[in-house]
Amino acid sequence: MSGFAIAIMAAGRGTRLKSKRPKVLHEIGGRALLLHVIAAAAKVVPPGRIFCIVGHEADRVQSAVASTGVRFVLQAEQRGTGHALQQVKAYFAAHRQEVLPQHLLVLSGDVPLIRPETIAEICEVHLRERAAMTILTAVPPDPTGYGRVLRVRDDAPEVTAIVEQKSLRPEQMGAPEINSGIYCFETEALFAKLGSLSTDNAHREFYLTDVAAMLVVDGERVVAVKAASVDEVLGANTIAEMMHLDAAMRMETAKRLMAQGVTILRPDTCVIDAEVTVGADTTIEPYVQLLGATRIGSECRIRSYSVIQGSVLGDGVLVRNGCILDGAEVGNGAILGPYAHLRPESRIGEAAHIGNFCETKKVSIGKGSKANHLTYLGDAVIGAGVNIGAGAITCNYDGVRKHLTTIGDRVFVGSDSTLVAPVSLGDGAYIAAGSCITEDVPEDSLALGRSRQVTKAGWVSERRNKQKA
Ligand code: UD1
Ligand code: MG
Repeated sequence: MSGFAIAIMAAGRGTRLKSKRPKVLHEIGGRALLLHVIAAAAKVVPPGRIFCIVGHEADRVQSAVASTGVRFVLQAEQRGTGHALQQVKAYFAAHRQEVLPQHLLVLSGDVPLIRPETIAEICEVHLRERAAMTILTAVPPDPTGYGRVLRVRDDAPEVTAIVEQKSLRPEQMGAPEINSGIYCFETEALFAKLGSLSTDNAHREFYLTDVAAMLVVDGERVVAVKAASVDEVLGANTIAEMMHLDAAMRMETAKRLMAQGVTILRPDTCVIDAEVTVGADTTIEPYVQLLGATRIGSECRIRSYSVIQGSVLGDGVLVRNGCILDGAEVGNGAILGPYAHLRPESRIGEAAHIGNFCETKKVSIGKGSKANHLTYLGDAVIGAGVNIGAGAITCNYDGVRKHLTTIGDRVFVGSDSTLVAPVSLGDGAYIAAGSCITEDVPEDSLALGRSRQVTKAGWVSERRNKQKA
């Protein structure tokens, strides 16, 4: 799309959210509002032609989206959407080497469900209509709170003005068509009007929306185009509105996965982030959360109440109820839980079992190894075919530093053993239950690290008899 640049208004504080976090960094579908808008914009023009207007907590907003490669325009004081575009005009005046785009598409950082197809369509309509300003609109069930777009006639594309909610006259209150906050402008026509905006309104702000009527007065063409779906242009000004969009986006994600052969029982109860991928024939039970860039293979079953964040699961994995995975990698056919806690850098091998109340961290566990009950395995390299008995733990921390435990293949670690790192158990080693292991154990050796049992025959009856006497 040559001749087009995109400006994204993202400088506002978001007073209605009552939150310390800048509005555009609030998340829906697990991703910041602004990142959704940038992702859609970047499908239409290259990131170097996208100008993000930042202001409130500009550094924080900028660093949150810097990796996308967009440009930034600073609006140090936030005096309204018209003022935001005045900064873009000032930016181009100050950077004369930058080519002024013929058409400027304006997006709102708080209208996150906008699709690239719709952005492209506004541009097409704009060119076809030879308009100075093209406004994306919608007719939602309840238009309260939005600016209203007034057309010349109901069936005409031409617009006479955009009127903000607080400026609606009584007879305009019923106007059903809302301004989405998304527009396409002839850059020169827009820039020519920005200087004449005033703050003579309810919010004492420069309204970008006032440009519509100003262009009309000059005989310029201002047209409206309705979005295909209302949801796509809904704004996120309050937490409630944001959660409505969040639910809509997550339902879209669930539908996308189901269309790819994933069974999601009660999708309305699951929290699935937009980036998540799941293979065909996997079943996701109710009340599961799949977050971040989680990837799940095919033919898995994720049972209820599991929360899987930033993790990669192979095929045929069974995650029983209530597991928590964060930054874990799980091989094909592994079985987890119920109630297993896999912390970052847990690498669980093919067909391994990590059972109830087991915690793992920075550990690799080989093929077919099992730790089925009540263990802590941290900072360890564990081979294949190992059995870790109930209650066994790696003592990886000496109060100052972390140390490594190495366990070879086919090792048997008896229940309630403590492996005091750094320590190494050779292939085939056998650790007697209840041992405290402080020294390396060579391969195929038995290690007992416990005091001998003492049994005193008849001791109890003797004591009983003494007490009676
Ligand atoms: C705006 C429109 C309204 C429209 C609605 C759609 C105006 C005056 N009104 O209202 O007609 O129906 O969007 O969602 O434009 N921003 C800045 N700098 C500022 C102020 C705002 O960058 O000084 C940014 C905000 O971060 C936000 C966007 O502009 O991303 C819209 O601002 P907001 O205050 O949410 O405007 P609305 O009241 O929603
Ligand atoms: Mg808004």
